[in-house]
Amino acid sequence: MAEFHSKIKTIEWINNYSKMVDQTVLPYEFKYVNITSGQEMYDAIKTMIVRGAPAIGVAGAHGVVLYAQELAKENLSRDEFAKRLLEKADYMATSRPTAVNLMWAVEKQKEIIKNSTADIKGIVEELKQNAIKMENDDIEINKKIGDYGAEVVPKGATILTHCNAGGLATVGYGTALGVVRSAFANDPTIQVFADETRPRQQGARITTFELTMDGIPTTLITDGMCSYFMKKGMIDMVVVGADRIAANGDAANKIGTYTVAIAAKYHNIPFYVAAPLSTIDTSIKTGDEIVIEERSRDEVTHINGKIICAESVNVINPGFDVTPHELISGIITEKGILRPAYTKSIAEAFRL
Ligand code: MRU
Repeated sequence: MAEFHSKIKTIEWINNYSKMVDQTVLPYEFKYVNITSGQEMYDAIKTMIVRGAPAIGVAGAHGVVLYAQELAKENLSRDEFAKRLLEKADYMATSRPTAVNLMWAVEKQKEIIKNSTADIKGIVEELKQNAIKMENDDIEINKKIGDYGAEVVPKGATILTHCNAGGLATVGYGTALGVVRSAFANDPTIQVFADETRPRQQGARITTFELTMDGIPTTLITDGMCSYFMKKGMIDMVVVGADRIAANGDAANKIGTYTVAIAAKYHNIPFYVAAPLSTIDTSIKTGDEIVIEERSRDEVTHINGKIICAESVNVINPGFDVTPHELISGIITEKGILRPAYTKSIAEAFRL
């Protein structure tokens, strides 16, 4: 059996550049790209060569190292170096607006820039080591999420997931798909239903790719089909990832997740969100404060470069929606499964 998660790192720091899987060409092609400048990293995040909240967090951290390497060559004073690098870090954090892991990771790098007592070379090295630590921590955290989540997967369950919260959305193993992987290791009779996830088709292109590579039985359905299969009793639970979770448990994830959560509630099916604590933004009280990315009209009007609608039609393309906390059975984190009332359980998890 091909072990996708143990062989492939979505993003990795190599000597003085960042190596990542190009997710825009999956599943037709599996290739890596080397990102060698800060601006290239900004563009890679924006154009979704790298995507998924934890993966773009690490990408943002790598991006700050790349900018640091560039500025280190400019003969600046240490103060000027730090000032310019902090500005570049802020710019990096604006490459996508919804996933808070990006801002979280860039903020961690900014703390090093502000607090380090090292010279310029030393700061670059500290930033690099911190980025590498984030990569390693990400995999460890996902395995913990997977193992906690596996405890609530019924024997022989069919798990519905939306978008891709897998190894390719993280450095490896995945959050929602980490739960699937850990559950499958104990019980090979489980299976996955993967929503296609229009418009970017992360479910079809990426989730089915990585799960079938790991030999996990997977059925692809289109986004509108979930309630049909729920009514038929064919879905036992839903597990999705998240891009940002507010202090009250409201969770932003790929557009369409909210619909799945409503359908799950109606059919009495447990709906779990799997995410690291770095996805929880305790600075915001509710999901109303989450900025939702607006993406280009072509993502909706075209499939594989071909127009699929009247050329002049109006289009709105929000990348994410917010599932209200009332619809969420539990938030699976590296500190265990948080249950309602989330304001209390989230605050406690941060104290642990
Ligand atoms: O636009 P994307 O592909 O970056 O969106 C990804 C998602 O919505 C994922 O479900 C989320 O980031 C969690 S990834 C572990």
